[in-house]
Amino acid sequence: MTVTASRLHLSDIAPTVIQSEIRAMSVECDRVGGINLAQGICDTDLPQLVAAGAVDAIESGFNIYTRLDGIAPLREVIAHKLASFNGMTVDPATEVLVTNGATGALYASLLALLNPGDEVLLFEPFYGYHVSTLVSLRMKPVPVALAAPDWQLDLDAVRSAITPRTRAILVNTPSNPSGKVFGQTELEAIAALAIEHDLFVFTDEIYEHFLFDGEKHISLATLPGMADRTITISGLSKTFSITGWRIGYLAAAPQWIAAIGYFHDLTYICAPAPLQHGAAAGLRGLADTDFYANLSTEYQAKRDELCAALTDAGLTPSIPAGAYYILADASKVPGTLARDKARNLLVSTGVAAVAGSAFFRPGRGEHLLRFCFGKKPGDLTRACDQLRKLA
Ligand SMILES: Cc1ncc(COP(=O)(O)O)c(C=O)c1O
Repeated sequence: MTVTASRLHLSDIAPTVIQSEIRAMSVECDRVGGINLAQGICDTDLPQLVAAGAVDAIESGFNIYTRLDGIAPLREVIAHKLASFNGMTVDPATEVLVTNGATGALYASLLALLNPGDEVLLFEPFYGYHVSTLVSLRMKPVPVALAAPDWQLDLDAVRSAITPRTRAILVNTPSNPSGKVFGQTELEAIAALAIEHDLFVFTDEIYEHFLFDGEKHISLATLPGMADRTITISGLSKTFSITGWRIGYLAAAPQWIAAIGYFHDLTYICAPAPLQHGAAAGLRGLADTDFYANLSTEYQAKRDELCAALTDAGLTPSIPAGAYYILADASKVPGTLARDKARNLLVSTGVAAVAGSAFFRPGRGEHLLRFCFGKKPGDLTRACDQLRKLA
């Protein structure tokens, strides 16, 4: 009898797209009852009018599918916000797509615009989902290292990473995990390369309202020649502390939006209908208030509190300019690999962090741990007290 290999098996890429180290640490943290500074779950309270807007929508019967590009009132306030905060002029009818988070926005954009085998440049340290999303779509992520400790852009490295297969550059500003905020000169240089090599640019601007020490957020789409080739992605998960709602959006030229919208429809149909109303109520009601400036002030204080504790503990932090993560040097924590260091830190202090290696190519980032400060004040202070035990 001939033995044939079973046809019941995983896809070729399934073994390479593994569960994120972030989720694994959260599971471990729950098991030991620790304080979770691993996952960017942002467990702070959402604004009251965002919650009320969603509850009203549910009670008023907005519980069925919406148009695939999202409800008009939400697209309109997004366009208004893109004009007032980002300096972008977009038509809410043809250039805005409401998505299932920034995650759904990137997934649908890549499906609509790129092909298997296409190369996409991104900056290292990177957000693991960006890499895994590209890999799962059979595209090739090409990491370009930013130089520690202040994550300088090496333009020559970017230039030499471009090949005939390169189709796009992915820019995450402010960045997870480094907290880097790309400046005007750096973005102009990236834009010049994108134009020279005729590349798309995907931006992930989900942390655009988390800016410290007077940093300014610049959207690449506003630079000359970039509007038609940039897919601007953002969302409300972080800004309104509604990571579980799955409300994000993207802005792009109409010739791309139609195809992206269709792929988003295939995967998700639409973003959750009543929650779109809640997000619209928030964007409308909080425009022209000090809500956004307060976010930066509040998170800068949290950053400073955690950086001080890490310094006291001997885990030298790289001070982030934006977002809400800190990469810290964990050389003194026992363990050869960063994942062992993360587990040892959890055992010795009860604080969960993520292995730095999750944000780098294999063999890099093994001395680093990433800590999230998007936390309720009491939990953050308790975590800081626990970390100081290492001192
Ligand atoms: C850089 C970055 N992009 C996107 C996301 C997820 O965004 P969303 O909840 O809108 O899908 C995260 C969450 O941690 C993130 O860090």
